[in-house]
Amino acid sequence: MKVPSLEEMDLKGKRVFIRVDFNVPIDERGEITDDTRIRSALPTIRMALERGGKVIVASHLGRPKGKPDKRFTMAPCAKRLSELLQREVHLAPDCIGPEVERMVSQMEEGQVLMLENLRFHPEEEANDDGFARELAKLLDIYVNDGFAVAHRANASVEAIVKFSPLCAAGLLMKRELEALEKALEAPARPLVAILGGGKVADKLGAVHRLMKIADKVIIGGALAYTFLRAKGIDTGASLVEEELLSQAAKIMARAKRKGLKLYLPVDCVVAPEKSDKAERMVRPVQEIPAGWMALDIGPASIALFSEVISDAKTIVWNGPMGVYELEPFSTGTKELVKAVAQSKAFSILGGGDLDAAAHQSGYAEGISYISTGGGAFVELLEGRKLPGVEALLRCSKRRR
Ligand code: 3PG
Repeated sequence: MKVPSLEEMDLKGKRVFIRVDFNVPIDERGEITDDTRIRSALPTIRMALERGGKVIVASHLGRPKGKPDKRFTMAPCAKRLSELLQREVHLAPDCIGPEVERMVSQMEEGQVLMLENLRFHPEEEANDDGFARELAKLLDIYVNDGFAVAHRANASVEAIVKFSPLCAAGLLMKRELEALEKALEAPARPLVAILGGGKVADKLGAVHRLMKIADKVIIGGALAYTFLRAKGIDTGASLVEEELLSQAAKIMARAKRKGLKLYLPVDCVVAPEKSDKAERMVRPVQEIPAGWMALDIGPASIALFSEVISDAKTIVWNGPMGVYELEPFSTGTKELVKAVAQSKAFSILGGGDLDAAAHQSGYAEGISYISTGGGAFVELLEGRKLPGVEALLRCSKRRR
């Protein structure tokens, strides 16, 4: 069954409510430091405007704990969206209620109204029907273009669909789902999965699923040191999740039994502390000095992983290879981006840091698809169903 698509709908004069994910990083001065998620929603918003829709844009921003909080206002996003669209974007004082309904009733075709942060109401994250009904009063057509929030069963993502006469996936949502389907459902082989990032606990589900469907799995980032310790290697002060050592050992034993190729770093960049000013050196993983920690993969690991990547037909990658945000420890991630971009594989990267790494390395063009999803991307890798996508599918069933 297909998710209903916006392209198939008549939008003229309709109130088109677009749930986006504008959960973007904002600095202390209130400036957006990365507007990728806003740019990614532009094709859907532009299409709705060009087709004569009255566009209502709704999102959450941060985690304001269910009450209004100036630090999490949507104002910077409304401003940025207005600059990108080159037209006025009004910001409503709230996301539900009589004043917002009045503003919507006065909208004309081709106008854009952004609602205030959905998470200023605790009912949003509670997936509350009453709140969803209030939101649905504002719309004729509900569009979900927020792939990055599709793993949250929130009122504006899931419950709202029950009260919306027409529902559709936006263009970004469709592209994200199609790219992931291509990589995970019937991939050209070999399928190489690369997993990095901070914690084994957050990636266990993805490791298990990818071990079933991938031909080769590369594990880098802090994640790798729990695996290396489980092999009996002394990893110094590197991040290790002691409680997961036996799980990691089981995973490696299963990989061996199944003949799955599992690659771990062979060398690393180590430092006595997590700081860009710290002294650092490259060591084989067997020779990490006591009290020092691995913060990036080393040149031999880059060469090994690049070799594996060069052979791939499909590549799925989540999580950086090191402490990417500190420049001296970003090389491993950037070099692997280069290797992926230079391969002939269909490649898909997901998770905030990788998006930044791809652009900073100058090789983003060579990547087939860069997902806007962090948690949503990982949940799809785990093989889980996303509440936002399931809701759209139920809606399409209802229409038949
Ligand atoms: C994300 O950035 O992953 C989504 O916007 C969801 O945000 P959350 O983790 O605060 O629910």
